[in-house]
Amino acid sequence: MLALDGLGVAGLFVKAAWVVTGLWAIGLSMQAACGVISAREASLRRSILVAATALAVAVATRFGMSAVELAGGLDGAIGLAGLVFEIKQNSIFSSATACCLLAAGAAFRSRLLLACGAILAALAFGLTGHARSHDMPWLAAGIVGLHVVLAGFWASAPLTLWPINSLSSVELAARNRRFGQVAIIAVPGLMIAGAGLAWLFGGGVEGLTRSAYGTMIAIKAICAIVALCLGAWNRLALAEALETEPSRAQPLLARAMALDAALFAAAILAVVFATTIAAPAS
Ligand code: HEM
Repeated sequence: MLALDGLGVAGLFVKAAWVVTGLWAIGLSMQAACGVISAREASLRRSILVAATALAVAVATRFGMSAVELAGGLDGAIGLAGLVFEIKQNSIFSSATACCLLAAGAAFRSRLLLACGAILAALAFGLTGHARSHDMPWLAAGIVGLHVVLAGFWASAPLTLWPINSLSSVELAARNRRFGQVAIIAVPGLMIAGAGLAWLFGGGVEGLTRSAYGTMIAIKAICAIVALCLGAWNRLALAEALETEPSRAQPLLARAMALDAALFAAAILAVVFATTIAAPAS
């Protein structure tokens, strides 16, 4: 695990901001593209516009932060911006195009534009970092992209399935059921892609069991497995009760979503560490 100075801590926050705003924008857009929530809903379209703007700011900040980190401080960072851009241009272009597509998708209520924007925003994570320096960079980028687009869908559940007054119990029950129908494919897909990445980047069993990187990936897997059990309970015990006894089921759903949010926050923290201070020894 790398020692951390002020610059290192700032770098962690900037990376976390990219992951959080990325999953937020990807998640809402993929839920709308899959029909879990309606792309015609004004409040949702506003949320996607805000998330896409936050993502654009996070990507721009990370670009600046990379130059500062390379220069070892503010002095000389501007001079290195060109080099950083050269290294990260594919990821930056993918993110920039994604933000434009998400904004257009929200403005024109287009599920297709929202899906394309979400996929490009996810792919941007695979066009930098460990995937970019891998022997098979495009294969690795594709798997990271798939993993992150599915992670965004799943991790955004607490944003849309939380019982709120403005959402009728009928609509909440319908959303929860639609989300479950997609999640039953998305979650196993996320885990298989995650296992594939662990194998590609982790340096085999030895590398995964004897490194801080392996520990971070294990933490993610444990969080995902607990969240998966929660999702199965939701599907088997709660989905029907939300339709038949909403007053009893809704507080249970809120509790499940709160636990989910905590598990996803832990998984996000673990992946931020895994891709910064706990990166596998190259
Ligand atoms: C079985 C569960 C999971 C496994 C095995 C797994 C494994 C991985 C691995 C090995 C990577 C590549 C990290 C690198 O670049 O070195 C990764 C990336 C990522 N994972 Fe997962 N993951 C899992 C679940 C999740 C969940 C539940 C979330 C979200 C809440 C998530 C979000 C991400 C993100 C955002 C990245 C991209 C990070 C980056 O490139 O900067 N993963 N995952």
